[in-house]
Amino acid sequence: MALIAPSMLSADFLALRKDVEMVNRHGDLFHLDIMDGSFVPNLSYGFPVVEAIAKIAEKPVDVHLMIVNPEKYAGRFMDCGAGMVSFHVNATDNPGSLLGFIRSKGVKAGLALNPDIPLESVYPFLKECDFVLVMSVMAGFGGQSFYDSTYDRLDALKAEMARQGVECSIEVDGGVSPANAAKLVEHGADILVAGSAVFKAADPGEVIRRMR
Ligand code: DX5
Ligand code: ZN
Repeated sequence: MALIAPSMLSADFLALRKDVEMVNRHGDLFHLDIMDGSFVPNLSYGFPVVEAIAKIAEKPVDVHLMIVNPEKYAGRFMDCGAGMVSFHVNATDNPGSLLGFIRSKGVKAGLALNPDIPLESVYPFLKECDFVLVMSVMAGFGGQSFYDSTYDRLDALKAEMARQGVECSIEVDGGVSPANAAKLVEHGADILVAGSAVFKAADPGEVIRRMR
């Protein structure tokens, strides 16, 4: 069964504790989006928010870095309590060494890629990844529409993983909802990130149950 990772970018920041408790009750992971206004044209939040959430999180904290020079900050996010850290394959010159560094801390390491980045760019690093984060929208904003091209990319990625004999998980992020969750899992998704579909709903717990 796929894991559901609510994206806290769409949470109510004036009632963050309530939304963290909701994820503790109904979700499987906390997906935390870090944006720097440079790698993506938007800013989100940083260390103090990640640390505050991690303190009361009863599920693993999954930090998605959408920043340039991720090697500069990955360590700080792990110190803040991240149990999974991903960064974009085109954000650094040496993805392999950063994946190794993250794993050396006992944290799960992931490579992320936007829909316009060739899938082949992650192939040389699959053996060093615990998971691949396949973006199903262009990174930077919550609430965008899902790209249907994602299904073909998942099929191709699964085929390459089988060819290489690796077993990393696949996380899908962007425009995920109860409408496409089942099909994404059929195409190999192991982790479904959902922001607006969960937090804009009157009953977030019920949306998560429907996604399952
Ligand atoms: C987008 C972020 C996503 C975002 C998903 O750049 O990486 O995690 O919060 O939000 P929805 O589910 O609303 O597309
Ligand atoms: Zn994300």
